[in-house]
Amino acid sequence: MKISVIGTGYVGLVTGTCLAETGNEVICVDIDKAKVEKMRNGIVPIYEPHLDVLFERNIKANRLKFTTSLEEGLDHGDIIFLALPTPEDEDGSADLSYVLNVSEEIGKKIKEYKVIVDKSTVPVGTAEKVHSVIAKNASCEFDVVSNPEFLREGFAVDDFLKPERIVVGSSSERATALMKKLYSPFVRSGNPIIIMDEKSAELTKYAANSFLATKITFMNEIANYCEKVGADVDMVRAGMGTDSRIGKRFLFPGIGYGGSCFPKDVKALQKAGKDVDYDFKILNSVIEINSAQKTILLPKIESYFKNDLKGKNIAIWGLAFKPETDDIREAPSIDMMEALLAKGAKLQVFDPEAMPNIEKRFGNKLNYSESMYAALENADALLICTEWSIFRTPNFSKLNQLLKQPIIFDGRNLYNVNEIEAEGFTYISIGRKATNL
Ligand code: UDX
Repeated sequence: MKISVIGTGYVGLVTGTCLAETGNEVICVDIDKAKVEKMRNGIVPIYEPHLDVLFERNIKANRLKFTTSLEEGLDHGDIIFLALPTPEDEDGSADLSYVLNVSEEIGKKIKEYKVIVDKSTVPVGTAEKVHSVIAKNASCEFDVVSNPEFLREGFAVDDFLKPERIVVGSSSERATALMKKLYSPFVRSGNPIIIMDEKSAELTKYAANSFLATKITFMNEIANYCEKVGADVDMVRAGMGTDSRIGKRFLFPGIGYGGSCFPKDVKALQKAGKDVDYDFKILNSVIEINSAQKTILLPKIESYFKNDLKGKNIAIWGLAFKPETDDIREAPSIDMMEALLAKGAKLQVFDPEAMPNIEKRFGNKLNYSESMYAALENADALLICTEWSIFRTPNFSKLNQLLKQPIIFDGRNLYNVNEIEAEGFTYISIGRKATNL
């Protein structure tokens, strides 16, 4: 099939590349000339495991092409994916200007039947809006369907190639048949393509992300309470998670959720509720709790250093909002670093992938270390913000040697409390007992 993808951000790039992998002829459109040039030369502009291999293979096979010409993109695809940014507006709602501007162009330019697919996370009612904007100028038939993506950064290729489900919001049989055909190679295992109306599809994405953010936030509250009463959140988690109605995943407490989706989508659903006079009380709490959770370790660090962080060297391991990505959007590390800098601390930071992005934001306010151990030299304490695998099994005697004193603040509960206690560390994590304090 002939596919066009408008917008080569995270979602567009993964979608375009994976659709080329199953033999479709894909053209990706982006207005950024330099980025398009790079992609034509086989350079993947984001860090995402396995994407580079697919990228190279499909460019070589001539199935994956890039252009800055919207016209070329609109001519080419029988199915046109809109994978455009929907940034957070000042009031928390999703800004649809990119989606609607391109829709206007689509209306003016298409000459034969096309299926326009909303792939971006967009508020309920967007498919309807896109339809009416295109209809203003269109001289041929077209359909608009909603097809939200559920990709996780770091696992996006796998999630796309082996989805647990595909949601398609469509009220046209013709468009539904095309979407089913396009996705059939990805659901051979028997996972469903769930067809529904456009609005329900749009809401499914917000509901799923808000539910997961709520699940994490609930566990963060349980963890905070565990500390008050001397319970161990790891045990509580294990006890709860084995109940199949609850499930083991997304029960890990920590210094809050971040990323490009959860924070934005929870706020957007909260705002969408307000617009129709519905107050999502649970989401109000989730937003408030998560914001406080990001700096939950700060008072503990302050209290350890007797409220004097001036000139203290704090090593930080992990800056990305989660492992396996260089994405720092809404990363808890940012809140922690800003708070620590404001208290006069000096920060020696290390992340396997996110250092360039953090450097763009913090410039010379931080010391950037070449390795996880280099960050520890002359440090008064270690703070862990992201659970990269490489941090899970460090050489503890090296850690002990390099740190001025053996103290670890762990925002991601990487270590076994008893083992680290035996190694002689003062260890302060989330929802578990503090050791050697
Ligand atoms: C999420 C959704 O999972 C995905 O379906 C959607 O398409 C986009 O948003 P992503 O943002 O890539 O994906 O990351 P995810 O792995 O879901 O983690 C989100 C945040 O929650 C991270 O900050 C992570 O550290 C945090 N998290 C996750 C926890 O704090 N505890 C958990 O148990 C799980």
